[in-house]
Amino acid sequence: MPLVCLKDFEAHARERLSKSSWDFIEGVADEGITKDDNIAAFKKIRLRPRFLRDVSEVDTRTTVQGEEISAPICISPTAFHGIAWPDGEMSTARAAQAVGICYVTSTFSSCTLEDIVTSVPKGLRWFQLYVQSDWQLNKQLIQRVESLGFKALVITVDAPIIGKRREDIRNQFNLKKRLLLQDLRSPTERNSMPCTQSSSINASLCWNNLSWFQSITQLPIILKGILTKEDAELAVKHNVHGIIVSNHGGRQLDEVPASIDALSEVVAAVKGKIEVYLDGGVRTGTDVLKALALGAKCIFLGRPILWGLAYKGEDGVEEVLNILKNEFHASMSLAGCRSVAEINRDLIQFSKL
Ligand SMILES: Cc1cc2nc3c(=O)[nH]c(=O)nc-3n(C[C@H](O)[C@H](O)[C@H](O)COP(=O)(O)O)c2cc1C
Repeated sequence: MPLVCLKDFEAHARERLSKSSWDFIEGVADEGITKDDNIAAFKKIRLRPRFLRDVSEVDTRTTVQGEEISAPICISPTAFHGIAWPDGEMSTARAAQAVGICYVTSTFSSCTLEDIVTSVPKGLRWFQLYVQSDWQLNKQLIQRVESLGFKALVITVDAPIIGKRREDIRNQFNLKKRLLLQDLRSPTERNSMPCTQSSSINASLCWNNLSWFQSITQLPIILKGILTKEDAELAVKHNVHGIIVSNHGGRQLDEVPASIDALSEVVAAVKGKIEVYLDGGVRTGTDVLKALALGAKCIFLGRPILWGLAYKGEDGVEEVLNILKNEFHASMSLAGCRSVAEINRDLIQFSKL
């Protein structure tokens, strides 16, 4: 049977992956309230379509940080793609390039950044940083990323410590034993055994540190994990270039708002000064349409990319992206939007919210 929607890939991945790998990907913090809300909140929103607008040609293209992408659908950073497919991030990067969208590579990748860039020299890539306690290591990583042609630095702010993932504890899931943190090792260490260096996320990171990043890189800085107007205003004040409204897919602090519910507050606070993106719970073309109508410049996908990888590597990720892109194209046509610029708040039925 063909897989026709993102949910089909989820069901397939659940069957194919080992229980501990599935549980890691699916993983939530504490009771998983926020992860479920991420999906449910999209389904509470109703659309106001407009008709008789000649939708014989619909253009899904847009830009992020000035770079064109074929649709406002990009790939969130997720750790350890090697869990889902042998050559992991290299397959993901190839699929992203084939579809013409942006791939945010995680600090916790199973492949080195050099391997990813060699396998796909031209794709649009951003790098996600879990700021490390060792500032020298942060500097080396950022300089490497910049010289490798990554186009933005995404700093994850919602993970000063890792959320409590009950299933990983029950499964005694130990990533350090299974996979290398390749990019956190020196070039000589990268080829040596044993291979269990762990990362040390910097829990003392604060707003004042942002100027240090700005002093060592020309890359635009994007903060991932902002959920409130207060932090959005601070982000603008500290001259960052973008915000990803995100709750880490419900894997960090549980019982925070669904991403789509936090979006409007953040969009209003930044007053159009910087780009705002969203991830968390996007599973259909109408979800993408709703996020854009509420002010997101584009959305990012987390788990669905790993489901695609588990299905058929690069081809599976490409299928996931193309299915969502086609659904989004159809939703635009059915709602009367010929271009991404025509998607706005009038599409949302606020009386039902
Ligand atoms: C298996 C897995 C690993 C993740 N690893 C990272 C990571 O390394 N860095 C990061 O900033 N976010 C990470 N995230 C969070 C995602 O970037 C994203 O915020 C979330 O998955 C979006 O929700 P969705 O899965 O519903 O699309 C991870 C999420 C998952 C599911």
